[in-house]
Amino acid sequence: MKNYGLFINGEWIQSKSGKTFETKNPADGQTLAVFQEGTQEDVGKAVDAAERTFPRWRKFPPPKRGEILLKAAAIMRERKEELGKMVTQEMGKVIAEGKGDVQEAIDFLEYISGEGRRLLGETTPSELPNKLYLTLKQPIGVVGCITPWNFPLAVPCWKLGAALITGNTIVFKPATLTPLCAATLVEIFHQAGLPAGVLNMVTGPAEVVGEAIVQHPNIRAVSFTGSVAAGKDIYAKASRMLKRVGLELGGKNPQIVMDDARIDLAVEGVLFGVFGTAGQRCTATSRLIVQEKVYDELLKNLLARTKALKVGDPLDSAVDVGPVASAEQETKILKYIQIGIEEGAERICGGNKLKGSPYDKGFFITPTIFGAQHGMRITREEIFGPVLSVMKVRDYEEAVKVANDVEYGLSSSIYTGSVNTAFRAMQDLEAGVTYINAPTIGAEVHLPFGGVKNTGNGAREAGTEAIHEFTEIKSVFIDFSGKLQKAQIVE
Ligand code: UN1
Repeated sequence: MKNYGLFINGEWIQSKSGKTFETKNPADGQTLAVFQEGTQEDVGKAVDAAERTFPRWRKFPPPKRGEILLKAAAIMRERKEELGKMVTQEMGKVIAEGKGDVQEAIDFLEYISGEGRRLLGETTPSELPNKLYLTLKQPIGVVGCITPWNFPLAVPCWKLGAALITGNTIVFKPATLTPLCAATLVEIFHQAGLPAGVLNMVTGPAEVVGEAIVQHPNIRAVSFTGSVAAGKDIYAKASRMLKRVGLELGGKNPQIVMDDARIDLAVEGVLFGVFGTAGQRCTATSRLIVQEKVYDELLKNLLARTKALKVGDPLDSAVDVGPVASAEQETKILKYIQIGIEEGAERICGGNKLKGSPYDKGFFITPTIFGAQHGMRITREEIFGPVLSVMKVRDYEEAVKVANDVEYGLSSSIYTGSVNTAFRAMQDLEAGVTYINAPTIGAEVHLPFGGVKNTGNGAREAGTEAIHEFTEIKSVFIDFSGKLQKAQIVE
């Protein structure tokens, strides 16, 4: 069994806490590795290392930073099978998606490495002769990256990749459910040539390590993906210290199906959207909003396809749905299923914990569909599991009203054969991401990613926006006239 330390200033060190925790396979309960429970003092050490390294790293030429990220991507490509398996074993998503997680990490590192040769600013003329103006994108300093367990390689790469290419140094706190993927990623960055001290990792509980990151005065920005409750807490605390905060929080993502849609495609889409990653994506479809005329046909097909899904060992490529990530997740999802039943939703299928061998050592829940009324808790609150609420609506207006009437706004989808309806939906759906004739999951890395309303605070990751989260803009005024020239002063 491998015992990992904290990674500070290029070295694996032991925490003085003397406490450790295990990362386990949610399919069978096997322990995969042992990690340190870091403390506030450990975060302090990590910040010191990051601060000491910052003056050198900020001067390290951005194209050279890009070369390191590209090298890391190449190592991941070479090790894709093994890393995909690691994601699956540590987090439970099926193996095709485990490899997809690795691929998304590679895609982003490759994409963002190109920023090393861009980091474009503006140039603009002056109102005065022989003066030129331009902007520079500069790093913020030491930044904290706090990442979730559902994409244990991809989401850390979004954050770390963007923070690194822009010249920041980092204190990284991965989710306690997936530290093995995180530690492996840290090793890969260093194998790729990242200098010691640039990226420091402290594992441990959110209340201790996350809290210390948020409260440390010398961490100037915090990027967080996780729950709304944690996000609000981080935002409140960090904003009091005027830190930059980037939040990517929950979702309650709708897929609308109109009468004029291809029903076969809509069924395929929602199956992938709700049961992919066992519903544990921020972008997972959790509401299916169907126009009356096609409701029965759609539901019949969906039910048949859902019942045929194979739940089981996520390493088996014939399996469609793996375990949920932890006992805590399982309890929460089962609680919501109970709430749905109690509030009068019709349980159309699923809703059970799978018992007996080979399920009893893991956390397996059968794919669940409810016939629901808009307004029920299961149609409003994020469940983060393989649970779908299906709702019937009269027309486009009602569909959009229902879709928008939740606190979240991450992803959204509409299936329709009408160009006009599709274009209206692009404007009308309150979400950071909208799909036309495609499921709510599966965003690619070269477009901005994030949500509106309680899904975040306006920050976007990935794509052309990624670097804004980790840069300050400096405006530079250059006077080459050889004399004092005064803007705004007319003489
Ligand atoms: C997340 O669940 O936080 O769009 C990220 C998707 C993935 C990313 C999801 N590319 O489903």
